[in-house]
Amino acid sequence: MRLFHRSSKDNDSMENGVQLITVADPQSAIAEQFRTIKTNIRFMGVDHKIDTLAFTSGNVSEGKSTVTDNTAISLAEDGKKVLLIDADLRRPTLHRTFRVSNNFGLTTVLTSDAKELKLDEVVRDSGIDNLSILTAGPTPPNPSELLGSKKMVEFINLVSKYYDKVVIDLAPVLEISETAALASHLDGVILVVRQGVTCKPNIARTVERLKFAKANLLGYVMNDIKASNGGYGYGYGYGYGYGKSKKKKKGKK
Ligand SMILES: Nc1ncnc2c1ncn2[C@@H]1O[C@H](COP(=O)(O)OP(=O)(O)OP(=O)(O)O)[C@@H](O)[C@H]1O
Ligand SMILES: [Mg+2]
Repeated sequence: MRLFHRSSKDNDSMENGVQLITVADPQSAIAEQFRTIKTNIRFMGVDHKIDTLAFTSGNVSEGKSTVTDNTAISLAEDGKKVLLIDADLRRPTLHRTFRVSNNFGLTTVLTSDAKELKLDEVVRDSGIDNLSILTAGPTPPNPSELLGSKKMVEFINLVSKYYDKVVIDLAPVLEISETAALASHLDGVILVVRQGVTCKPNIARTVERLKFAKANLLGYVMNDIKASNGGYGYGYGYGYGYGKSKKKKKGKK
């Protein structure tokens, strides 16, 4: 069973967006795996609410955007008001995935001098019930600076008052140093690991950076799992094992 077309080009998602299997085939085994991820997130939120959540990875093209977008759709299926944000400012995909323009978005918010932010001027309807999207916006000369800014943290705290869940597609930890710091201001972060691509030392370095920044690492999603029969099965696994930080949330209401 080959559920995803594997692209030969690393940046295919930057041109065409990612595949929304949860929309294209909601009854598929993979869509079901995303529901399992969602359920696990819910279980982990029993003691400490996980309202602001991000996915990241060590390096590029491990499946962050695919996992982030499909999990957000899965969360929205429950009737929760979900805001999906593309915060991978160097390799944005959300506008391609949802076929909308990227002439404004997160960077517009972060560079705006306006005293008061009108959310409905930047957030768009995704066409999926309960799911709103905020695309990355025009690429600025200083994306890392913007991501690491106080304004970014304030913005996430602000939107978390209006949405039940804020789900963020982050840049890779080992490529953009601000990623780990930003993750530390969220309720939780999940690492996307791609089977056969992500090497163990990079996983260890990524985990180390997230822990050093005191991010609440909830676990990992194993993307692109090969079927045991050697066929073309693709799937997602969920695991714990990198430990949970018991930090107190920063900057939350
Ligand atoms: N399970 C999978 N099976 C086959 N192809 C996949 C799978 N997951 C992701 N891909 C493909 O791999 C490429 C990278 O995926 P994606 O864009 O989700 O990764 P990313 O980590 O967000 O990449 P980037 O670092 O560029 O933001 C895309 O072309 C996507 O369609
Ligand atoms: Mg991406």
